[in-house]
Amino acid sequence: MASHLHTQSRFGMACLLAQVLAHGAGAQVSSALSASTRWDASEAAADAALPSMSFSDASRREQRAPASAAGSIRPRFSTDDRGRQVVSFEIPEGTSLYGTGENAGPLLRNGRVVEAWNTDAYGYREETRSLYQSHPWVLAVRADGTAFGVLADTTWRCEIDLSDGIRFAAEGPAYPVLVYEGATPQEVLKKLASDIGTIELPPLWALGYHQCRYSYYPESRVREIASLFRAKRIPCDVIWFDIDYMRGYRVFTFDSSHFPDPGALNADLHASGFRTIWMIDPGVKAEPGYSVFDSGSAGDHWVKRADGSVYNGEVWPGQCVFPDYTRPETMAWWAGLYKDFMAMGIDGVWNDMNEPAVFNVPSKTMPEDNVHRGGGLLSAGPHARYHNVYGMLMAKGTLQGIRDANPEKRPFVLTRANYIGGHRYAATWTGDNAAEWYDLENSIPMILNLGLSGQPFSGPDIGGFIGNGDGQQFARWMGIGSLLPFSRGHTGKGNRDKEPWAYDANVERSCRLALERRYRLIPYLYTLFEESSRNGLPVARPAFFADPSDPALRSEDDSFLLGESLLVVAKVTPLGDRMPVMPRGMWRPININDGATDADLPDLYLKGGSILPIGPIEQYVDERPLDPLTLYVSLDEGGTATGELYEDGGDGYGYREGKYLRTKYVATREGDLVRVRIGATSGAMPRQVRSVVVRVIRDDGSEAHAIGRDGETIVVDLAGGR
Ligand code: GLC
Repeated sequence: MASHLHTQSRFGMACLLAQVLAHGAGAQVSSALSASTRWDASEAAADAALPSMSFSDASRREQRAPASAAGSIRPRFSTDDRGRQVVSFEIPEGTSLYGTGENAGPLLRNGRVVEAWNTDAYGYREETRSLYQSHPWVLAVRADGTAFGVLADTTWRCEIDLSDGIRFAAEGPAYPVLVYEGATPQEVLKKLASDIGTIELPPLWALGYHQCRYSYYPESRVREIASLFRAKRIPCDVIWFDIDYMRGYRVFTFDSSHFPDPGALNADLHASGFRTIWMIDPGVKAEPGYSVFDSGSAGDHWVKRADGSVYNGEVWPGQCVFPDYTRPETMAWWAGLYKDFMAMGIDGVWNDMNEPAVFNVPSKTMPEDNVHRGGGLLSAGPHARYHNVYGMLMAKGTLQGIRDANPEKRPFVLTRANYIGGHRYAATWTGDNAAEWYDLENSIPMILNLGLSGQPFSGPDIGGFIGNGDGQQFARWMGIGSLLPFSRGHTGKGNRDKEPWAYDANVERSCRLALERRYRLIPYLYTLFEESSRNGLPVARPAFFADPSDPALRSEDDSFLLGESLLVVAKVTPLGDRMPVMPRGMWRPININDGATDADLPDLYLKGGSILPIGPIEQYVDERPLDPLTLYVSLDEGGTATGELYEDGGDGYGYREGKYLRTKYVATREGDLVRVRIGATSGAMPRQVRSVVVRVIRDDGSEAHAIGRDGETIVVDLAGGR
């Protein structure tokens, strides 16, 4: 079926162009604005397509220029016997498939079938079809390392079948597909980010270690946990408050017997360098007299049943009503609820159960024919259409509320449910995993595939949410989790304690070393987050990014990269550690724990040609200035290395007015001397007066070092200091 597609010029003038493209099926245009090529089943399908909820600017998907050249990737459109629009792509032999968001199981997704349908997936396993989030997106890396990606731009339930090529089958009306092509997978991800947006630069403290459990109460227990971190010299930035802080699980309330003065508690925690994050779920207890229920009812904010009555479903507080986040009025009301809440000195918000999860019904969620009324760009529609974006919209409203309450601070939201593009509003974690080696091992590929699906800021529950596990497992999990973008220990009600000191002295030592390592790496991690906020590349990247044309790396997921330069080789089993496939080239082992070693922690390797900027150990991220700055140098065969450091105020928006400093350090070797100097800088933040320790890793793994002042050339003698 060949067809026409009306397009607008890039300047939005009403210049309608009709175009006939007769290759197989579908109508195709590429965009002057977007880096993608859009395909629709037909002109009629294109005209009827629902607005994009994945694009950061939905109108961009519609502003198309005529295709200058047809891409090489062509979808086939058909309809299956269930009336679903099917879009399929053939893939050349040797193509590796990734993405599809949050899935259990390995990094490589060839042969897998999953379904984008946000689900409360407590204790998920390999065969679980749907987890908490929906990313109808596949990244394909051809044998030669060139890549393409395909996005099925639908919010409806969508099967993603990778057993023979790529095949999407979604309920609901016809939907467009966007195709992205690149010389490398990295280029494809950058192009995707130009459509679906990037994260906003998070506050620096959000990169620290987070301590959670279901639940810390009463407040004396919270104070005890906080002071144990400081007394034991184990770094930590954030303490989390799970549902038991609430009065009978009523959102935006505090249980006054356990938390008589949350404002004072937050102030005391702030004084010892902690931030606090408090949970808010979407289900509002249906109880006249409870202020949130009353104001929501007065504003008619609840999701309705098909018959027009208010929908009730059971969650933690009993029978609940659910805000209809598709309504702009409801979003404004929801955001407004955070004003008094944040005024208690709360630093961030944790949105959970927002698939939305409903207890005691087989579907685990609300009826698909429930009605969302929409408004603005969004038309009214059934829950089936809005289910997969319910959590994303909730997080968006929460973000708005936090921002309104504290406009000078950078917001932080963590959400369990999300949809592709939802990284613009919230970070995420991988839900209710179990304290099993399987889940520990899965922590890595799950975070990597989220990163390959637009979400760079995620992590697992370190130590496992379900069950107890043992000390060695906990130490190894902390070793891995401390090197993933979002680093939080958490566990479920009734389980043993899982703070870093809760096992034995050996495990406590491993955890301290793991977290000291994370804190030393914060300057590098922050530099990676800042890069991600500009170009959408993940912070934690698969090993194959080091060499996309090396087939041996394609299924490697016991190791991963932080940025381009640092390779993390994890210990994912109790015994007999597997040898990872190492990327070709020069990777030098480095020890950033002042020589201390621990068999349970991942090994780190620094790529030849790179400089790794790290800081001193801190107990929380803004405990002290970045002084000394340590530069680890791993020279390439030509005797050179470079590395970048990004710095700013760590919070607030001064960086948008130029108050940041980006420094490129350059090392060059002549004979036995390695000179390290600043190659380039940008930004208007003054350089701190500080010491720099340069550590050059020799070929035998030993280090030569020298100390100087930042800004001056520092010379290291490789022949000296042995
Ligand atoms: C859900 C969350 C979990 C949380 C619990 C209680 O199971 O996934 O992290 O602790 O609810 O709020």
